[in-house]
Amino acid sequence: MVSEIKKIGVFTSGGDSPGMNAAIRSVVRTCAFMGVDCVGIYRGYEGMIEGDFKPMDARSVNNIINKGGTILKSARCNPFRTKEGRKRAYEQLRAEGIDAFVVIGGDGSFTGAMIFNQEFDFPVIGIPGTIDNDIFGTTFTLGFDTALNTVVEAVDKIRDTASSHNRLFFVEVMGRDVGHIALNAGVGAGAEEILIPEENLGLDRLLESLKRSKESGKSSSIVIVAEGDKTGKNVFELKEYVEEHLPIYDVRVSVLGHMQRGGPPSCYDRVLASRMGVKAVESLLEGKTSLMVGVQDNRLILTPINKAIKGHTKIDKELIRVSEIMTT
Ligand code: F6P
Repeated sequence: MVSEIKKIGVFTSGGDSPGMNAAIRSVVRTCAFMGVDCVGIYRGYEGMIEGDFKPMDARSVNNIINKGGTILKSARCNPFRTKEGRKRAYEQLRAEGIDAFVVIGGDGSFTGAMIFNQEFDFPVIGIPGTIDNDIFGTTFTLGFDTALNTVVEAVDKIRDTASSHNRLFFVEVMGRDVGHIALNAGVGAGAEEILIPEENLGLDRLLESLKRSKESGKSSSIVIVAEGDKTGKNVFELKEYVEEHLPIYDVRVSVLGHMQRGGPPSCYDRVLASRMGVKAVESLLEGKTSLMVGVQDNRLILTPINKAIKGHTKIDKELIRVSEIMTT
């Protein structure tokens, strides 16, 4: 079925991530290629309610594929959680002649899109954009690969000074309540220990492992701690705990924070974003709605958006085993 869609909105929502601009670029250029108009919606649902729109053509997205962040800005929007707010947004979209939209964001953004579609029968397609990689229905979310490389680069630098001073570093990374960044970047950076929410191995095991590292001749160590880790202690408390129970270590802390959200997207994220943007626009023009574009075994798939929202990603048990073996 070919839809009557003539004008597609595109916006970014929730925490930004590298690759969002590449996805915006792909949506805009695919619309141009397909002969439909495209409108940029600034600041996510907040800008939608305010009618903060800008018509976009193929030239509007020059030189952004290599830029982190999002030229359309992003925001978290409470008014959109109300029926009045969503109605106002719908009126704004209709006044602009927008027939459908592509939302680039995380599960919170998809929830809003799903409700909006239910209330106004308005076609929506989601593209998973978050560094957390915590969205069901895709092996990779946009920004995850770039964030991993950012963390590995940072930890490599920390390792230089840790080994110069024979120190133990606790390095906190993002990921909200999942450990995908911590586990993958931890293995990639050669961390001696990785603490993730999915595996609460307890403090005694941590002390044992650090003791073994020292006895095996390791003069410095790096422990990657996911921000959602559940040992019950934050990285500063972990420092104090180790200083108290294992005084052989000179301990320091580094919280990487929002630098993990920035930087030029990796080639992988740029290519994935370009592929997902084409798929999102084609799906709308084929009359599809309420789906999220994902990648599995390097093939693009479509997942019902309500499943993407409700689903949970699984931590890679094989990679956990690899990380344990690598601490030998
Ligand atoms: O969801 C992406 C993310 O960076 C999480 O990893 C992190 O916990 C959160 O956003 C931080 O949110 P904010 O940018 O609102 O501080």
